[in-house]
Amino acid sequence: MRNLRQAVILAAGTGSRLRGVVDDKPKGFLKLGEKPIIEESIAKLVRSGVTDIVIINGYRHEYYDALAKKYPFVSTVKNPDFAETGSMYSFFMARERIYGDILLLESDLIYEYNVLQALHNSIYSDSILISGRTGLGDEVYVGVDGDTIVNLSKDIKKIKHLGGELVGISRISLDLYREMVGHAKDMFDRHPRYDYEDCLTDLCNSRSINYDFIEKPAWMEIDDEDHYKNARDIVYPLIGERDRTVSIKKNIERTVLLNPGPAATTDSVKYAMVVEDICPREQEFGELVRGIRRDLVRIVHGGELYEAVLFASSGTGALEACLTSVIPGDRAALILNNGAYGERMQQICDGFGIRHIDYVIDWGESIDFKEVEAIIIENKDLISHIAVVHHETTVGILNDLTAVSNLASKYHLELIVDAMSSFAGIPIDVKNLGIHYLMSSSNKCIQGMAGVGFVICNRESLEKSGVLKPRNFYFNLYQNYRFLSEKGEMQFTPPVQILYALRQAINEYFIETEEGRADRYAQMYRVLTAGLKKLGFKFLVEEKFHAKILTAIIEPRDKNYDFTEMHDFLYRRGFTIYPGKGAKEDTFRLANMGAISCDDIERFLENLQGYLTLNNIKLS
Ligand SMILES: Cc1ncc(COP(=O)(O)O)c(C=O)c1O
Repeated sequence: MRNLRQAVILAAGTGSRLRGVVDDKPKGFLKLGEKPIIEESIAKLVRSGVTDIVIINGYRHEYYDALAKKYPFVSTVKNPDFAETGSMYSFFMARERIYGDILLLESDLIYEYNVLQALHNSIYSDSILISGRTGLGDEVYVGVDGDTIVNLSKDIKKIKHLGGELVGISRISLDLYREMVGHAKDMFDRHPRYDYEDCLTDLCNSRSINYDFIEKPAWMEIDDEDHYKNARDIVYPLIGERDRTVSIKKNIERTVLLNPGPAATTDSVKYAMVVEDICPREQEFGELVRGIRRDLVRIVHGGELYEAVLFASSGTGALEACLTSVIPGDRAALILNNGAYGERMQQICDGFGIRHIDYVIDWGESIDFKEVEAIIIENKDLISHIAVVHHETTVGILNDLTAVSNLASKYHLELIVDAMSSFAGIPIDVKNLGIHYLMSSSNKCIQGMAGVGFVICNRESLEKSGVLKPRNFYFNLYQNYRFLSEKGEMQFTPPVQILYALRQAINEYFIETEEGRADRYAQMYRVLTAGLKKLGFKFLVEEKFHAKILTAIIEPRDKNYDFTEMHDFLYRRGFTIYPGKGAKEDTFRLANMGAISCDDIERFLENLQGYLTLNNIKLS
């Protein structure tokens, strides 16, 4: 289930039975601790990951409006008819504000944090939280049948199979909310005091509404002075005790990312970021960094001859670090550009006044190495480096590293390879290929989180680059390397948690093995492209040049086709696709990298077919 980010609190009522303890304020402003109970509830919601809280106010609304001024994530909606209407009318008033699944709460509740977790982690998209019997008076009983609710009532005689008591916190999907709004519209005339519990009862005959049961949560609804005393003396202290020792648990919904990175990650990689706070200057953290550097080199078979230099950056940071740090001022790089990332290397050189000679062809075309050689011969004394993108993610083409490497060694040039979206997805042997610098990042085929860019450098070349005048400070490759090797730490503040995730991702790579990962990706590619062809799609790049990690697909010409609509249709079903980028024809792109499987690809193809059929799109 997707984590809930929005909560709606029903707070319009007058709470007349509590006048003695809360003066003329709304019930939520009752105090048991230092803050009013509504603010305690808000703090718990925030702790649980809610980022948008809508309070429906009415009676003395200015109190809640003041909270909206105090907290940027709180807003209010007024129910002007609060005195004559029930809670469903208040809920109805929020219809312009609700855009996804929500938590629905009442304002006069005190509760332990765990009850929010139960609903966040519920396996149901609609779930009413119920507890064992409290005997507190004024309870709403919930009748159930199996795992669904049947009715809600204050009259226990109306309940056939008692599931428990309504706590007053529910998980409501957007779909259910819309249905409630539609149904309630017709009810308000006949039943102005229609409550949301009535509406749930009415709807649960026609659709499944589930529940989560907790036998004895610490919670209470405070409606009158007896409730208040009980809360103050017993329940509130119990809540405090339980909340002090609660451990946070979060289920994560699985989504299938088919965009070219950041790629989908395993839950174990996600959870690896949840670590004790640690100062990155501690020896223990230094060990983590050392191990990561060693194993990144190992992935590309660099042995003892290579060093990995890490940066807190995206992949472009690694490109910038390398290009600005290794090309001498009186020499030039030959940049091979058959996509946006070849062009990006040109842009970096332009930005720093680094000389470069460009081989530029249409994005989607393969490199003609005879032409490249001719350029090298023509500029023999100027060129010191060749820079190439291995897997040009713009179009999904795989540039031939062996061919570039042969030219580099023939003409004694150093070889710079952008392996952003091939590192760990396609086997690379930096020693055999004579690669001097290879750049990648933590969030593509290595399946970690975004935030670390790295350059794997031939040590001898890197040491030699130390004599060059630095063009920059943060991204100077040699200086960062010196710091790492002398102090065993990254020079500047590292992205601590991202590195823990990267450690986990590297371990998972070695468990899967180099061959296993490459095979999984290749199999997904086969399933994907076979399915696309069957549907009638055509590819931008000739198949023999495909990197098999990303495919650029020519957009249908049918008038009913619209990329954004297709994206949104698939996104709602858990699949993220990606637009094309500057190729010679209009394309959209699908990557098969990350922690996904052939089953995901098959499900994706079914959904894609669903989109085409629904919109009657013909592929000629
Ligand atoms: C081949 C290639 N190079 C460079 C980059 C830039 O990486 P980032 O967006 O992490 O800066 C990308 C990003 O997709 C890429 O695919």
